Amino acid sequence: MNIAFLGLGKMGAAMASHLVGRSEHTLTVWNRSVAKTEAFAMKGARVAATPIEAVQGADVVITSLLDDKSVEALFYSDSPLMNALRKDAIHLCLTTISPKCADRLQALHQEHCSRYVSGPVIGRPNVAQAGKLMQFLAGDASAMAEITPICEYFSENVKVLADVPASVANSQKLCLNFFAVATIEVMAECFTLGEKLGVPRENLAFFFDKALPAPALNVYVQKLFSRDTQSGAGFAMVGGKKDVSLMLQSASDVHCPLDIATVIANKMDSALALGLSDLDWSAIQEISRKRAGLD
Ligand SMILES: NC(=O)c1ccc[n+]([C@@H]2O[C@H](COP(=O)([O-])OP(=O)(O)OC[C@H]3O[C@@H](n4cnc5c(N)ncnc54)[C@H](OP(=O)(O)O)[C@@H]3O)[C@@H](O)[C@H]2O)c1
Repeated sequence: MNIAFLGLGKMGAAMASHLVGRSEHTLTVWNRSVAKTEAFAMKGARVAATPIEAVQGADVVITSLLDDKSVEALFYSDSPLMNALRKDAIHLCLTTISPKCADRLQALHQEHCSRYVSGPVIGRPNVAQAGKLMQFLAGDASAMAEITPICEYFSENVKVLADVPASVANSQKLCLNFFAVATIEVMAECFTLGEKLGVPRENLAFFFDKALPAPALNVYVQKLFSRDTQSGAGFAMVGGKKDVSLMLQSASDVHCPLDIATVIANKMDSALALGLSDLDWSAIQEISRKRAGLD
């Protein structure tokens, strides 16, 4: 297959690294900042100068951009990119976007006679690098069958959601991200309360470690315990706030109060106001500590 991959950020680069240099596929990459394409060029990927050039002749276009805005800056009715896209091509969107954006993308591709699949992923960049992500696919049935083997290069578990709108995959991703960030918030508050009451932090870490065997959650036990706030290859606060805003907006759209998410959004706003946007989203612990009068 001819695969075009747009967006080589932390997640995109890790996922695309599984596609480069495969004899059965040709990979074309594009990224807004050109420097991130260099490692791919060295491994034999074709580097496109523009996203339009990247999608020309592609069977599959994979996007791992940041948010609704960055995806819809390229994919809209009669856009240069849509005009360059083959009629039967597949668009697989890995970005965590709003369910409403997914609905718009599905309608756009139906109108164009191309095929749309939402494919949000669970797991941090190191998990993507190890090829062990969990992924949900929803959208065009024939496209899902064709791209599942491609997703399996970077995802250990690919769950196909049949006979539902593409946006259900995005809604499911938001529910699971809510669970993850709420778990981070509860552990952060426990660590903070424990410290104020004289409970050794390592005792709480020991318990959380036993209680949370799932790697996607367990990673945060050590991050919170050691106050390792560097995002590095992880999920930055700014992206986390984007996701919590998507949760709140989607909940509001269906009149579903999301009280804990409101508390977390407030903490993330405080973190962003303090200039912590590049730290890992688990740095919301630092706001709990600050409010509790800890260093
Ligand atoms: N990190 C995680 O743990 C994680 C886990 C699961 C899902 N996700 C989701 O995966 C997506 C990517 O996350 P990430 O951590 O890889 O973020 P990231 O490292 O910040 O990468 C974002 C990518 O989007 C591009 N981009 C941003 N704004 C753009 C614009 N206006 N026009 C064109 N390109 C634009 C960036 O290009 P530049 O390189 O030029 O900035 C980069 O390629 C997000 O939707 C995130 O919510 C992240």
